[in-house]
Amino acid sequence: MKVLVTGGLGFIGSHVVVELQERGHEVVIVDDLSNSSIKVLDQIESITGVKPLFEKLDLRVKKDVQDFFSKHSDLNNVIHFAAFKAVGESVEKPLDYYENNLNSLIYVLQNLLNKESRFIFSSSCTVYGQADELPITENASVKPAESPYGNSKKVGEEIIRDICKVTPGLNAIALRYFNPIGSHATAKIGELPIGAPQNLVPFITQTAIGLRDQLSVFGDDYPTKDGTAIRDYIHVVDLAKAHVVALERLDAGKNETNLETFNIGTGTGSTVMEVIDTFEEVSGKSLNYKIVPRRAGDITAAYAQTDRANNILGWKAQSSLKEALESAWKWEQYVRSDVFGK
Ligand code: NAD
Ligand code: WQD
Repeated sequence: MKVLVTGGLGFIGSHVVVELQERGHEVVIVDDLSNSSIKVLDQIESITGVKPLFEKLDLRVKKDVQDFFSKHSDLNNVIHFAAFKAVGESVEKPLDYYENNLNSLIYVLQNLLNKESRFIFSSSCTVYGQADELPITENASVKPAESPYGNSKKVGEEIIRDICKVTPGLNAIALRYFNPIGSHATAKIGELPIGAPQNLVPFITQTAIGLRDQLSVFGDDYPTKDGTAIRDYIHVVDLAKAHVVALERLDAGKNETNLETFNIGTGTGSTVMEVIDTFEEVSGKSLNYKIVPRRAGDITAAYAQTDRANNILGWKAQSSLKEALESAWKWEQYVRSDVFGK
């Protein structure tokens, strides 16, 4: 297949590009480099031996998106990652988030309507909020979002649902990711947060390497076994493989409806303290951390029910938390000492 990967130089997108190429698919990347480095393109080539076609494009510019699709009229397989993703920033700048996360989605979809097309959407477990039952199934109710970012994912899914109802030629899958962490086994690509990381694992690795003085553990008074919050941390390479499986499912016409939704997680929840303990074990580093009050908007616990992904999509996470953290640590050491020069 020839596949357009929007946001393909970002954290998850770059890993998906590698997996697509390793399965023999041809990739075209568009990215505006708002949250990624052009060096990732060479890194992908160095892993796979193939440099994907790349075009710098801001998907918020409707005319540019139209021109791009006119030039690449054969592109009808799209994996759409391009979006802003910082939850806290979205509260400060809601219109920026709605403008990017919704307009980019709409403009891409507009160019897929008049052909048989396949579309994979990056959704998030954030749509469930604090679910009433754990593990979380795809039938759990979608809750009012805590942030404009979360709302952009909820509304993004609704836009796709509405357009799929009236567009039989459009076949889509929404993947609701749990917490992606880690990096490629080669450590040549990984997560590149700009400024202080908001997410737990990059904050841990940056503290361990000496870029941050101390990790704050947000709350130890949750009703969990050690008082810290529970999440489902999934290795980004496992997550990347789910996209390839999803696209190949659509290509083979195996989908049951023209919009399917799958949880993509490991099915296992880990507390913040378990993540810290496991990281200390794999890195041999003792982490400087301090318990501080809960972070506003955080939920107690989220982990996936993965039966649909396992049995219908035919995908299952393979890596343990330990392996994912090992890869995150390997990447942190590589990125501070090599090409990215940070
Ligand atoms: P990322 O920021 O690393 O990657 C997104 C990429 O999209 C970046 O390279 C950025 O430069 C590009 N981009 C942003 N706006 C663009 C635009 N207007 N035009 C072209 N390119 C644009 O983020 P990520 O962690 O790889 O996330 C990818 C997707 O997965 C996002 O949609 C995100 O919301 C979703 N998601 C991420 C997580 C997570 O924890 N990382 C969890 C659930 C869902
Ligand atoms: C994990 C746990 C924190 C940082 C976010 C988005 C969600 C999705 C995934 C995109 C929580 C704790 C964190 C720190 C800490 N993204 N923590 N100290 O909040 O589950 O989800 O990323 O769709 O939408 O909200 O991930 O990595 O920020 O936090 O104690 O410095 O680690 O309180 O319990 P989260 P996270």
